[in-house]
Amino acid sequence: MIRIEHLRKEYPTAVPLKDVNVEIHKGDVISVIGPSGTGKSTLIRCINMLDKPTSGKIFVDGEEITAKGSDVARIRRKMGMVFQHFNLFPHMTVIENIMSAPMDLLGKSKQEAYDKGIELLRKVGLGDKALNYPDVMSGGQKQRVAIARTLAMEPEIILFDEPTSALDPTMIGEVQAVIRDLAKQGTTMIIVTHEMKFAREICNRVFYMDEGGVYEDGTPEQIFDNPQKEKTRQFIRHLKVLEYSITSRDFDFIGFNTQIEEFGRKNRISQRTIYNIQSYVEEMCMQIILPQLKDLFETLVTIEYSEENDDADVVIRFNGEPFDPTKSDNELSLMLAKKATDNIIYSFDPEQKLSNRVDAQIHWRQ
Ligand SMILES: Nc1ncnc2c1ncn2[C@@H]1O[C@H](COP(=O)(O)OP(=O)(O)OP(=O)(O)O)[C@@H](O)[C@H]1O
Ligand SMILES: [Mg+2]
Repeated sequence: MIRIEHLRKEYPTAVPLKDVNVEIHKGDVISVIGPSGTGKSTLIRCINMLDKPTSGKIFVDGEEITAKGSDVARIRRKMGMVFQHFNLFPHMTVIENIMSAPMDLLGKSKQEAYDKGIELLRKVGLGDKALNYPDVMSGGQKQRVAIARTLAMEPEIILFDEPTSALDPTMIGEVQAVIRDLAKQGTTMIIVTHEMKFAREICNRVFYMDEGGVYEDGTPEQIFDNPQKEKTRQFIRHLKVLEYSITSRDFDFIGFNTQIEEFGRKNRISQRTIYNIQSYVEEMCMQIILPQLKDLFETLVTIEYSEENDDADVVIRFNGEPFDPTKSDNELSLMLAKKATDNIIYSFDPEQKLSNRVDAQIHWRQ
């Protein structure tokens, strides 16, 4: 349905896409993942010519949209686009937002556009919001309107660029539910996302982007469980594991807490569990272990999230003489650490550079 050949996109200061060659078939649901700045947005903006490729060819249903003199506007209409920031017209009601393009561009009558608009609003769960102005709606509702507006143009494929990343965590689910429905109905979609659980659940293919192109293309099982190439492996590992090295008492503790917060959100860990991890690390690491370490110390905190049982394994390793923090005389901190986890195990291995090791499992608690 879409074929991309030797696509290259240069900006004055960056070349995000060097040589992209992929084919997208009807009914494909493709998640595009990868580190920031690897050209995920650029790729989907090039596909519908919002960004003009530097070189290469893009075919849509066999027609080359990149060809000189091609009817870009007409071919582009086959592709709907949903952005991070909804882009609704604030001076129009919800239904007017949805009706305007089908009337202007598809030549639909007002009645037709209205009927279809109402049907689509019902489909995204907003049948009663037709006369609202976007201003009074939540982010999740606005994004669902934006999806309905895109669907009103009857696109053959929908391109999403991080459709949930501007939303509060509580609203992500409602937008994902709408996209999940579309996938079930066989809608062809390309979705740039940082929501890995969601990506895995709904797509049949994953593009991992790196090094100027689609670095690895595979099924979700392959990419998430058994990636073949080095950079994909590293990326997937970093999704599930947060490593933080502390070598000074003045390290950026706030920054570390923010990383835990982001790591938790990325993995959809409950807020309560995130809090427990933070509180455990604060007591165990900051209050108990660091104060007793000698000047040249090294501490490594590793947090690994396990999806099956919503718990996180927190491992703290440090160098120096054996020191069992579970026997610390800082009773208050020990009590607080134990509040976050009932399972702290200390071990010492002189063979290791970081010979002290403290393991804890932090569960979701009611
Ligand atoms: N309009 C532009 N002008 C100049 N450089 C740009 C432009 N758009 C993107 N870039 C650069 O191209 C590279 C790829 O950007 P792009 O937005 O496609 O990345 P991304 O994978 O979508 O990242 P993120 O996950 O942060 O959204 C970056 O280095 C970016 O700075
Ligand atoms: Mg982007």
